[in-house]
Amino acid sequence: MSASWMLEIQNLHVAYGAVRVLEKISLNVAAGEIVCVLGANGAGKTSLLRAISNTMVQRSGRIAVAGQDVMNRSASQIVRLGVAHVPDGRGTFAHLSVEENLRLGAFARKGGFSQDALERTLGYFPRLRERYRQQAGTLSGGEQQMLAIGRALMLDPHLLLLDEPSFGLAPRIVGDIFDILRQINAAHQTSVVLVEQNAAMALNLAARAYLLETGRIVLSGSAVELRSDHAVRRAYLGS
Ligand SMILES: Nc1ncnc2c1ncn2[C@@H]1O[C@H](COP(=O)(O)OP(=O)(O)OP(=O)(O)O)[C@@H](O)[C@H]1O
Ligand SMILES: [Mg+2]
Repeated sequence: MSASWMLEIQNLHVAYGAVRVLEKISLNVAAGEIVCVLGANGAGKTSLLRAISNTMVQRSGRIAVAGQDVMNRSASQIVRLGVAHVPDGRGTFAHLSVEENLRLGAFARKGGFSQDALERTLGYFPRLRERYRQQAGTLSGGEQQMLAIGRALMLDPHLLLLDEPSFGLAPRIVGDIFDILRQINAAHQTSVVLVEQNAAMALNLAARAYLLETGRIVLSGSAVELRSDHAVRRAYLGS
């Protein structure tokens, strides 16, 4: 395994009990790189992120984070390696305040709560500072997505796993959030795996992309290549 890859996946198979959902997945993310995984409903995008963070799925094959094999590591050990998973549906605690959600985000952090990480996070998301004491459940959809990403940033992650951050949000808010992701990536060389159905936005942000269809990778290449691919254009870009 090469240490220059932040994430290296080889021949990964994923199942829920007897139900096999991903087969023979190979995918790499370089340090500081943003990679997106595109695919229709049910293709296995969420399951792929769950396999990386070792939550809720059975997996076999090989996954390494920064050169370290994580197939025998627990979910919390993988978090400690700097992998932060922002799940689909955001996973924030509705009855807790913004502040409490952010503090909980730091719970699994190596070294515990960090004031620096909090200030950085609130710097990226000034809206969260404005709504610091507000209950998360009363935030707008866009603000809740910001909180979910903010909570992940409290871990000072090396690798961010984002599951459809654009889901249900107006294009302008998605644009704002993707801009912030670009800034975070540039400032800290944070690697990102972005799972999206919003191919146009994702291919704008990512350097490279993989296309997942019913549990298999059917296409991969630079974002530029995928954007000009006929099948991608027809199925995901509507042109
Ligand atoms: N807990 C589970 N138990 C059994 N099967 C599951 C479970 N979660 C997902 N699946 C199945 O795994 C397959 C892939 O689902 P997954 O959620 O990974 O797809 P997805 O690409 O994220 O879809 P979407 O775009 O709708 O979020 C689907 O056929 C789904 O029904
Ligand atoms: Mg999903």
